[in-house]
Amino acid sequence: MYTVPELEDYSPEALDRAVADLIAALEEESHSIADESQWKEFRDRWMARKNGVLTQVNDAWLKAAPGPQKREVGKRVNELKASVEQKVESAHESIAGATADKAIAAERVDVTLPGIRRELGAEHPVIRTMNEIVSVFKAMGYSIGTGPEIETDYYNFESLNFPPNHPARDMQDTIFLAGQEHKAQRDRLLLRTHTSPVQIRTMEKQKPPVRIVIPGRVYRNDAPDATHSPMFHQVEGLAVDTNITFCDLKGTLDHAMKSLFGSSVKTRFKPSFFPFTEPSAEVMISCPFCGQKGCRVCKQSGWIEMLGSGMVDPALYGFVDYDPAKVSGFAFGMGVDRLAAMKYGVDDIQLYFEGDVRFLRQFA
Ligand code: PHE
Repeated sequence: MYTVPELEDYSPEALDRAVADLIAALEEESHSIADESQWKEFRDRWMARKNGVLTQVNDAWLKAAPGPQKREVGKRVNELKASVEQKVESAHESIAGATADKAIAAERVDVTLPGIRRELGAEHPVIRTMNEIVSVFKAMGYSIGTGPEIETDYYNFESLNFPPNHPARDMQDTIFLAGQEHKAQRDRLLLRTHTSPVQIRTMEKQKPPVRIVIPGRVYRNDAPDATHSPMFHQVEGLAVDTNITFCDLKGTLDHAMKSLFGSSVKTRFKPSFFPFTEPSAEVMISCPFCGQKGCRVCKQSGWIEMLGSGMVDPALYGFVDYDPAKVSGFAFGMGVDRLAAMKYGVDDIQLYFEGDVRFLRQFA
């Protein structure tokens, strides 16, 4: 390794030689710098104020030079200083360049590697079925209504003509929120048991004519089994206008069932009871799976119960400030989950809610 020599004489030739040796050593040492820490060592070896090569040159050559030569030696030492600084700087630039090259090489994409497959999401079969039902009614000019899943007793029951403590409330086993006892009964909160409260909420806000479908999640205190779930989905509908009759109800629902199940499907209306409709009817469709020959889905009867319906009980109009002498309407409601189960041949609706992707993937 290069060490700074004492100068024997200060002749221009001797100075030239000493300078050339030093530059050669500087050059050579700069070649072996591979990384940042080696560069720092290099910089300090040559430029450190304390005992760096330049400092040694200053002491050994300039300070030791006899008076008359000081000018000439000083000039050489200044040139050397500039060369060393330049070399240190350029050495740094070249290792920075090398580091960047390495980083780029490391990041280079190998286009021959297999790609990462992104899984595509798909609509859940229940939601898909719900959207299909909704779009049948949208095509008939209905708009979509939505409302809260946590409801008051008033909207879920009272305003739908279920008086407090009326036995009709037992038709829908209700999940109540805890800690509501201090409130008046109509203000107590519960999980809505049907989407019918949105019918009332809509009529409160909107004067007739009204045509809405109400898709949504509803809750009942039912133990889960193949055909029941404490959470399920409904689409309900409401049409209120002047001169709406039971014929309109029949025609609308017959058309809707044909749109959903095929034009050869027939409908049948069977008397039923709901507190908010009078008269009320259960709607059956001829079994689209066996053409009424009798099968597992229709339990050999040729008919499948599809929805509840009826003419809006005039008592409801009193709750929403409609004039029962001027308007009439019909309403209907259907469960989506059982329909989706029927449609896809799923024999246990729990499968829809367990979130097992092996099951759900089949519908993607
Ligand atoms: N709300 C009723 C239910 O959930 C369904 C229904 C709606 C029946 C509208 C008649 C009219 O059981």
